[in-house]
Amino acid sequence: MDEIIVVYWSGGGNTQMMANAVGKGIEEAGKKARVVFVDDISSDELKGVSAFAMGCPAMGDEVLEEGSMEPFVEAVEGFAGGKTIALFGSYDWGDGAWMRDWENRMRDAGAFLLNDKGLIVNNEPDEEGTAACEQLGRQLAQR
Ligand SMILES: Cc1cc2nc3c(=O)[nH]c(=O)nc-3n(C[C@H](O)[C@H](O)[C@H](O)COP(=O)(O)O)c2cc1C
Repeated sequence: MDEIIVVYWSGGGNTQMMANAVGKGIEEAGKKARVVFVDDISSDELKGVSAFAMGCPAMGDEVLEEGSMEPFVEAVEGFAGGKTIALFGSYDWGDGAWMRDWENRMRDAGAFLLNDKGLIVNNEPDEEGTAACEQLGRQLAQR
């Protein structure tokens, strides 16, 4: 697999910054990264790949963004079995409940969750958060 897809939703840009850093890590590890906003890709494109990343901030009341990302993730649940998935996203005032729910959904769908948990960053990723995203990308590229 030469290209790794990183699908994200972001309203304010924080999760987009994370997605771009994941993409940078993938490319540092020698693979091509396709970082794409969720509305610009069909979930069908993930059916044939063995590893990919998804990012979404905590929205609503500790849920995924409901207009685009939630239906996308519902579709992914239908074919996630056996795939390696990296999850990431930004949050503000919560304790990460949205990500724990998302992790559980992916596990229940039979996916292998990279690091066994999603990478969460408080608001805008700082240097440490950006480095963690890049590391996630490198790890994903090595799968
Ligand atoms: C409508 C809305 C709902 C939100 N709900 C939550 C929430 O339930 N828990 C939380 O920790 N942060 C919540 N946030 C904060 C966002 O997760 C945070 O600002 C994040 O950095 C946004 O990422 P983005 O810039 O990629 O859109 C919410 C923000 C908005 C605009």
